[in-house]
Parts: sequence; C-alpha cells; structure tokens
Amino acid sequence: MDIKVSELKQGLRGSIVIPADKSISHRAVMFSSLAQGKSIIRNFLYASDCRSTVSVFKNLGVDIEFIDNNTLSVKSSGVLKQPLTALDCGNSGTTMRLLAGVLARQNFDSELIGDASLSKRPMKRIITPLSEMGADIYSDTGTAPLFIKGKCLKPIKYHSPIASAQVKSSILLAGLGTDGVTIVVEPYLSRNHTEIMLKYMGADIQSDKNIVSIKKSKLFACDINVAGDISSAAFFIVSALIIPDSDIVIKNVGLNPTRTGIIDVVKRMQGDIEVLDERVVSGELVGDLRVKYSSLKGCEINGADIPRLIDELPVIALLATQAEGETRITDAGDLRNKETDRITAVVTEFRKIGIDIDELDDGFLISGKQQIKGDSEVNVYHDHRLAMTLYIAGLLAQKEMVVKDFQWVDVSLPEFLPLMDSLRSL
Ligand code: S3P
Repeated sequence: MDIKVSELKQGLRGSIVIPADKSISHRAVMFSSLAQGKSIIRNFLYASDCRSTVSVFKNLGVDIEFIDNNTLSVKSSGVLKQPLTALDCGNSGTTMRLLAGVLARQNFDSELIGDASLSKRPMKRIITPLSEMGADIYSDTGTAPLFIKGKCLKPIKYHSPIASAQVKSSILLAGLGTDGVTIVVEPYLSRNHTEIMLKYMGADIQSDKNIVSIKKSKLFACDINVAGDISSAAFFIVSALIIPDSDIVIKNVGLNPTRTGIIDVVKRMQGDIEVLDERVVSGELVGDLRVKYSSLKGCEINGADIPRLIDELPVIALLATQAEGETRITDAGDLRNKETDRITAVVTEFRKIGIDIDELDDGFLISGKQQIKGDSEVNVYHDHRLAMTLYIAGLLAQKEMVVKDFQWVDVSLPEFLPLMDSLRSL
C-alpha cells in the first residue's frame, strides 16, 4: 500500500493512548508460556511481530487464546513440546534471538526461520555465547535458518561485545533452565524488560548496573498488564515538536529508564516535554507525556545514550533537521543490523526529499533548520520505523510525497494512521 502525504498546515492537538510495548508484549507471551498455569496478558500489542511470537509458542504446544485483540489467555504446563514444523519468526529479531536461548536447552530439536529481512540479520551474536554454554546451533552463514539440537547447557559468564537486550535475554533464558549461575556483562546497560518480568514471575535473577546473573528457576503464571511503547510514542513526540502550534498528550507511555533516551535528548535539544502522572504497572514505570512545538537546538548523541534510544534514531535524525545547528549521532553502528541498514536507508531516502545529511560509519551528521522539499517517492525497505519516519517528514514537506509500501507499519504500530488522524482533526 503506497500512501500520499502532504504538508500539515495546522498543529497537532489533543491526546492519544499509545499502544502496547513491542518488547514487553513478546516477553509476556514467551515467559508465560514457560510458566506453569494460566496467565492473562492485558494490553497486548496486536501487531504482526508479536503475533509471530504467539504463533511460534502455539506451535510449541502452549494453549494461547485471544480473548480479544489485546487480551490473551496463556495456559501452559511449563514444558514445551517438539514443534511439527519450522518455527516462523516472521520479521521479528526479538522472537528469533530470545527463542534460540529457550530452545537450545530443550530435549528436542527445532528449526527457526524468518522473512527475507530477518534472514539477513546477524545471528552469530547469539550463536557464539549459546555455543559457549554447550548449545548445538547450526547456521550456514551466521543468519537464519537456525537448526537447534536441544541439549543440557552449562552456565557461563559472558562479556557481551555489544549492548543488546536481545543477546542478553537469549543468554538469560538459556540460563533460566541451566544449573549454576549464568552471568551477562554488557558494555552499557540495554533495556531490562527481561530482568523485570522474570523477577516478577519468580525467577532468581539479580542485576547490578550492567551486570545481571540468573540461577535455574521455575516461573509462576501471573497477570501482566503491558505498558505503552515509548518507541511508538517517539513518532508523535517528534511530530508535535516539529509541527508548528502543536500541543499533545500521549498517555500510558512506558518510562523504564533503559528506554527513555529520547526524553533526555529532547530536553538536551531544549524541547518542551513534560512527564505527568508517573506510576508502576506490572513492575514497569509508566506515565503520560505532554509535548509542545518547540524551538530546538542540535546536540551530540553517542555512547550510553545509544541503547536507550536505538530504535528512535531514524525519527530523531528527522527531528535534528528542524533544530538550530548541527546534530552528530555516533556509536550507533548496530543500526546497520536492524530490519534494514537504517543508516544507509535514512540517508538515501532523506536525500531524495531534499534533506542534507551525511552518512557516518556509525551514525549521521545532520545540519539543522532545513526545508524538506518532498516531491518524491520514498522506500521503506521492509522497515516499519522507516515508514513512519518518512510519513512524518511528509507532514513538513513543501510538495506532496509518496511513501511506498506503508503497510510495513503493521509490524509494530498498525494504529499509526488513525492515531495521527485523531490528533490532526481537532
Ligand atoms: C529489542 C532490543 C533492541 C531493539 C529491538 C527490540 C528487544 O535490539 O532494537 O527493536 O525487544 O529486546 P538489540 O537488543 O539487538 O539492540
């Protein structure tokens, strides 16, 4: 589905409730499938990535039912069954990488496959530590398909070369069923939803800054209420900051400090963003955000910032085009390993619509106060976040643009357009 976007001549106004967090929704399904008993997951993200996780765990013998699109009942014996077919993770790296840690320690064999984009993404980052634990994972080229022969594993202390929650979680999920203490040390702390939810469900897991350790544990079924996704909220935060006369409230946003890099960066850029009504839901910090159109200043984004806003970088690059002065984003080389190479894709498509941006090996250099020309067809490279970023660029463009294959938004935020429409119609 290709869509046309043209300049928005009025500010965004009103409030929206942001849909559920993708990372937490995946984990809620996975961990309740590993727990004995019945769990209810409320405010589940009904998007294609999380539905891939549901279908994989159904294939592994777990009784999962949708009570409605956003409420799931998960009944499990706590023991997974040998799947009859290959497990299809679709477009979802989180599903494949976390699942590999679970399957490596089962008493059966399995095969993990994914779509064209996922089949190009690096899997050595999980194969290496899991193999150190004694796992038997075969991959021809370091990418999917992965063939896993389930085995009894041994614990390790792993110094991860990258700050990646997917790598950390894969090892922790292997450690959850392994005698002894499994430890992961990260260069910087990545998102810690796995640690929070495993603890909430009874696992023996301890964290201290960027070090986390887990002992073999049983999980208990429980009810989980999923917080809203700050990575989805990011598209509305940026829209309100750059579209003149905007003033919006985004409700129920997950504010886990390992994810709030975008709020810190907006403040660093002197953007008007306010956190309201903070509370804790299922162990996760949640709140509402009020965001207003702002006069922004360029800034530096690097180091420990990066894992706290990695998924927001394409739309932050767009934000930087409207700030005064230059913005330099570095230490973000892992953006090249996402749903597409997000550094090359952003630079290529931004240039098509008249944005001046330099490609760095590990990020971008963006000059500020730019006019976006539009007047072009842009590609999204099977990437939901590229699709939404380019759509928002179109709201500022002088001439109409066409975003090709916009249906990729369904991977994380099928409600993007209705939410945007509700803010522009007031
Ligand atoms: C995710 C972790 C991040 C993020 C991805 C979701 C997760 O990836 O980019 O969208 O749910 O654990 P890395 O951990 O590989 O950086």
